[in-house]
Amino acid sequence: MTKTASPYADEIDQRRTFAIISHPDAGKTTLTEKMLFFGGAIQLAGEVKAKGDRRRTRSDWMDIEKQRGISVMTSVMTFRYQGNIYNLLDTPGHEDFSEDTYRTLSAVDSAIMVIDAAKGIEARTRKLFEVCRLRDIPIITFINKMDRESLHPFELLEDIENTLALDLTPFNWPIGQGKNFAGLYDMRQSAIRRIDNPSGELEKVNGPEDPKVAELFNEHEREAGVEDLMLALEASKPFDADAFNEGHLSPVLFGSALREFGVKDLIDTLGAIAPPPQGLEADVREVAPSEPAMTGFVFKIQANMDPNHRDRIAFMRVCSGKLSRGMKARLARTGKMIGLHTPQFFFAQDRALAEEAFAGDVVGIPNHGTLRIGDTLTEGEVLAFRGVPSFAPEILRRVRLADPMKAKKLKEALQQLAEEGVTQVFTPVDGSPALVGVVGALQLDVLKDRLMAEYKLPVDFESARFSLARWVVCEDKAELSKFETRHRGSLATDLDGAMVFLAASEFDLTYEGDRFPSVQFFDVKDYQ
Ligand code: G4P
Repeated sequence: MTKTASPYADEIDQRRTFAIISHPDAGKTTLTEKMLFFGGAIQLAGEVKAKGDRRRTRSDWMDIEKQRGISVMTSVMTFRYQGNIYNLLDTPGHEDFSEDTYRTLSAVDSAIMVIDAAKGIEARTRKLFEVCRLRDIPIITFINKMDRESLHPFELLEDIENTLALDLTPFNWPIGQGKNFAGLYDMRQSAIRRIDNPSGELEKVNGPEDPKVAELFNEHEREAGVEDLMLALEASKPFDADAFNEGHLSPVLFGSALREFGVKDLIDTLGAIAPPPQGLEADVREVAPSEPAMTGFVFKIQANMDPNHRDRIAFMRVCSGKLSRGMKARLARTGKMIGLHTPQFFFAQDRALAEEAFAGDVVGIPNHGTLRIGDTLTEGEVLAFRGVPSFAPEILRRVRLADPMKAKKLKEALQQLAEEGVTQVFTPVDGSPALVGVVGALQLDVLKDRLMAEYKLPVDFESARFSLARWVVCEDKAELSKFETRHRGSLATDLDGAMVFLAASEFDLTYEGDRFPSVQFFDVKDYQ
């Protein structure tokens, strides 16, 4: 990476803002724990998600999450390790929360893809990978659980290459697997790491035929093991930094998160090759991280992180300059200046006031509804970032209130929850009751749970006669007006007042598209 002549160049170059993508159960939580442990951010590995009767962390604050044992909400964890600052943005594991995941991935510069060595690429990994590919996010692959019976490394690499159409360069190679997993061969440094030394220095060897390597293999696997290693060294593509930065090539590391093995090498690799904070496209120009003036965008809103403080936290990625506690910032959506009095950093167990933050950092800004997903803050420049999209919901429902007298309260509650991104709300222009739209069914449960817990509003959901919502854009005013008159009963506005067409089916949508060729229907909308 090129060093920038910015007053904050050193700060920027130290930062790595990344996410871990994986299929549930591949070991994301375990890996997160170990990384935080290495970074000294937590005292005891095992605190991120303790199952059973062990203590749960604060990120598991919701009842629904406790019942289902999944991590519903995105959070951020910061740790330091050997001179670098790592901001790990947690992507929710459940597939219903893809929207949250998209938003989170809009705020990272790289990702670690964790794969279960016994399973290879699984459905959710593939989906998340596709999101990363859309944004050309560089990916480091970590093949986990090598201490269990695994697929052969060649088989794993082939599976990843073929399924994802991604070039791979192994950085290390497993010596044995399952109960015979004895170490890693570092292919770039001709060195080994023994299983009983997860975090010390690597041990230099004289190539794959060095007796130190051979003796690590189980006697019965020795010959084939050394041969495979030689073949792997011969056949591996050299690491190409440009191809990696463009998201076409992924370095591969093997290991066992549970045994803490290979985790140090993974963090070292992240520090050495993952890009520091990158420039970001805004509506009027591209913003470079090295610019002196602060800019940032909100990619997540989370309420009730701490049940004792019913606050709402807007998670903002700083994109340039320096955020100083107490500074005033311009909110692009309203043009108003707001004070950043208590920006916070998040660690595994704690928060701390953020006195200053730089490009790549994620700060939590407590607020009472001022900030929304997609909001841009600047030091005054009129500019808004794009790229935190809203997706057309896959499920549309009407909310039925147990007590119809509470309609006004419901409206307010839905507005707030929509601002947090928990649901989308569509207000029909003909005055009929609002509809909620979600991407997955579990999101409805969360919505119901929160309406009850936070607003004391018992609700049920009824199916609506619509199944699709699409944002409407039409340059031709006369045609748009004709469309509006014709479809008054199927039009609604979203949270920002943008027009949405509600359709009963795909057929309906295509039919209307043919009848009104200048009207365009979009299933993704950039916030703002
Ligand atoms: P996730 O967040 O991706 O869903 O996965 P998580 O880390 O919770 O790991 C899923 C299961 O796999 C856990 O076991 C965990 O201990 C195990 N695991 C993770 N990494 C490794 C590894 O490198 N080797 C082996 N052998 N197992 C690993 P569990 O029994 O479901 O949970 P727990 O009761 O142990 O917490």
